Amino acid sequence: MLRIAHVSDLHVLSPHGVEWRHMLFNKRLTGYANLVRQRGRVYRRAYLAAVLAAAAAEADHLVVTGDITNLSLEREFEAARALLDGAARTVEVTVVPGNHDVYLPHIHETRRFAHHFGAFLKSDLPALARPLRAGPFPCVKLRGPAAIIALSSAVPRPPFIASGLVGDAELAALAEVLAHPEVARRTPVVLIHHPPVDDRIRLLELRDGLVDAAGLRRVLAPHARGLVLFGHLHRRVRRRLRTDAGWLDVIGASGAALDHPDPAVRAGFNAYAIADDGSLASAEAHVVAADGRTFDRMPLRASPSVA
Ligand SMILES: [Fe+2]
Ligand SMILES: [Fe+2]
Repeated sequence: MLRIAHVSDLHVLSPHGVEWRHMLFNKRLTGYANLVRQRGRVYRRAYLAAVLAAAAAEADHLVVTGDITNLSLEREFEAARALLDGAARTVEVTVVPGNHDVYLPHIHETRRFAHHFGAFLKSDLPALARPLRAGPFPCVKLRGPAAIIALSSAVPRPPFIASGLVGDAELAALAEVLAHPEVARRTPVVLIHHPPVDDRIRLLELRDGLVDAAGLRRVLAPHARGLVLFGHLHRRVRRRLRTDAGWLDVIGASGAALDHPDPAVRAGFNAYAIADDGSLASAEAHVVAADGRTFDRMPLRASPSVA
């Protein structure tokens, strides 16, 4: 049995507050305005600490599906690394980047994500990784019945665009990873920031979805079972994605620090148990309770399947 805790969209803020010298005349200004307008009023640092502590205590492996920082500020990276180091004292940690972790082109070009979080991306199959700017991806961790496969979909975009792209090179590498005998005999657990299924019109997918989601689904199509874990939507959601051979559980986590009355949006973490035979034994949401410290557990029910 492997127990996985899934958190996402930490959006860790700098403990030093907004640093205006890093804000002017770039995307960070619109990102900060967005934070104040939508995210700031419900962001609770205490929830984030409670979520990480509970997730680390419940699981063998903690996966973080991106947007770990808010504006890719160096101080945010440092604060986030300290939080994840705290979790890593009791549980193994794997991370993928979100669009907020590569917020500006120079952040991506200077490889800040890999610099700060490379310790959580040590692959068991390093020869199959591509040297992307966010780090070597796919990163594969063979753990009991599961093959945890971390992907990068994070690319810097202009203001008001938040879409992701895996890219042809990384998709080809993913196909090689999935064909590797040590992966093929396990249940794949794919981590990606952007959602792999999107029911909206293509224009919206190009604005803030995964631009090559169809390409990702094509690579996954031969597989009879597995999980694809994502974030970005700030909403807890579970879908079943039909494949040529069976179906995949496609599960999103909520933002890990958000105070909201809707339990699908409210801060928390998802907990999955993968049995020794590779089947998904359980999938539960642990939602921060009204006291801000304890958690309400509820099953993660699948909404209608997607073809
Ligand atoms: Fe986010
Ligand atoms: Fe995002």
